[in-house]
Amino acid sequence: MNSKSLLIAPSILSANFARLGEEINSVMSAGADWIHFDVMDNHFVPNLTIGPLVCKSLREDGIKDFIDVHLMITPVNELAMSFAEAGADLISFHPDAVEDVKETIEIIKQSGCKVGIAVNPDKPLSILKDIIKDIDLILLMSVFPGFGGQKFIEETIEKIEAAKELIEQQDHEIFLEVDGGINNETISRVSKAGANVFVAGSAIFGSSDYEQTIQSFRQKIS
Ligand code: DX5
Ligand code: ZN
Repeated sequence: MNSKSLLIAPSILSANFARLGEEINSVMSAGADWIHFDVMDNHFVPNLTIGPLVCKSLREDGIKDFIDVHLMITPVNELAMSFAEAGADLISFHPDAVEDVKETIEIIKQSGCKVGIAVNPDKPLSILKDIIKDIDLILLMSVFPGFGGQKFIEETIEKIEAAKELIEQQDHEIFLEVDGGINNETISRVSKAGANVFVAGSAIFGSSDYEQTIQSFRQKIS
C-alpha cells in the first residue's frame, strides 16, 4: 500500500463502542482500507475516548487491518510506545502536544510504526518545514479536533493543495490524510485538491448501509 492509493479510513469515534470489533469487521468488509483510531484525553482536547488497551484487545480478537492512531493527547511519548506495543501501524500526533517534535518522531519510528503529524485548521504548513523529511503522513484537520459530526472547514481545500505541492517536492512518499466533516458532499473536493487518505466517522457509521456509503465515496474519489 503506497501513498498513491486512495484510502478510506473510517473513524471509530462514531462507531457503536459496545460492539466495536463487529463494527470494524463490518466497515472493513464493506470496503474500507484503514481503521482511524481517535485518542482523546479530556485535556489536550475536551473529550475522552480510548487507549492502547482497546487497540490491544482488537488485535487479540483477530483484527488484522491497518490501525491509524490519531493522538489528541499530551504528553505523547509513553502512550505512543504503548500504542506501538498494542499493535498500531501508524501514529500521528499534534506537534504542540510535545516538548521536542523530532524526539517524538524518532520514538515512534523506533517503535516500528509509521509516523504522522497532525495540522490543526489554525496552524500553518510551515510547522512541517524541519520535519517533513522524517514523516510518513500529514494529517490535515478540516475541523478542530475533539468531536465527530462537525462541519468541514472550506479553507482546508487550499491547504490540501499546498500540502500536496510540498509533498511533491520531497523524495520519499508521504500520505496526505484529511480528517473532519468528510461526507458525500465534501469528499470529491478533498480528493481533487490532492488528499489520498479520507477519514470519515459520522458519515460512515451514521449511515444505514456502510457498503453503499463507502462505494459512493469511492466513486467520488476515483
Ligand atoms: C475529530 C476526529 C475525527 C472525527 C471525524 O476530532 O479526529 O477523526 O472522528 O469525525 P467526522 O467524520 O464525523 O467529522
Ligand atoms: Zn481523527
